[in-house]
Amino acid sequence: MARKKKDETVELKVPEHVAIIMDGNGRWAKKRFLPRSAGHSAGSRTVEQICDDAWSLGIKYLTVYAFSTENWKRSDSEVATLMDLLRKYMKNCLERSRKNNMKVCVIGDVTRLDEDLRHSIEELTRESAGNTGLCFTVALNYGGRDELVRAFKKMMADAQSGRISESEVSEETISQYLDTAGMPDPDLVIRTSGEIRLSNFLPWQSAYSELYFTDVLWPDFDKKELIKAIEYYNKKDRRFGGRNEE
Ligand code: IPE
Ligand code: IPE
Ligand code: MG
Repeated sequence: MARKKKDETVELKVPEHVAIIMDGNGRWAKKRFLPRSAGHSAGSRTVEQICDDAWSLGIKYLTVYAFSTENWKRSDSEVATLMDLLRKYMKNCLERSRKNNMKVCVIGDVTRLDEDLRHSIEELTRESAGNTGLCFTVALNYGGRDELVRAFKKMMADAQSGRISESEVSEETISQYLDTAGMPDPDLVIRTSGEIRLSNFLPWQSAYSELYFTDVLWPDFDKKELIKAIEYYNKKDRRFGGRNEE
């Protein structure tokens, strides 16, 4: 991606995989004296726009944190609002994936979701599986520790049935047991709304990701803000534990 800076054009390196912790919907609504649900609706419109923006900037994988395993602790009415929004979102997403060739995946424990929502997810992921545009992943009832627990259980079951032995356990095989199997690790993790924490998002996968925190609340996040995050990423010297020669 080429960016004009004063009188020079700078070539920006675009991260292949960007993961976003979309936070601040509630505070966005509060600032406007609106109910939290209005913040969540505005936030879901931002997700749709950011998918198009990410693809137009050259990002190949976009992963968003939509609902965490901890978010069930919210009031019943807020959880119900979020689930209804997700229902609508999944329907729109199917149409959009047909139009823009987006491949949609869901990570997290979907078994706890209502049957109709699970059905929409299944249809959406199956229908879009062959698409070659943006790989868009929604983390839904996702928690990094829960993902590891589920991965360990699958691996132990495979060990008991002789499909895997101790000597085959490596970082690569563990990655294959995670919900993100087959996906590259995120190069850049963005969190909006000013909180400086990961809140159980992709702990294994983000071990070497660059982290970008912004005070912008999620419903206000746009292409300009995404470019700022990419510019920040470009200033980083990713050494992965090694040394980059001068
Ligand atoms: C993020 O916004 C959306 C979800 C966690 C589902 P919040 O609802 O956490 O908004 P704040 O943090 O209260 O502002
Ligand atoms: C993280 O935001 C989860 C999602 C964005 C889905 P939260 O608002 O739930 O996180 P905490 O409570 O501030 O850690
Ligand atoms: Mg929050």
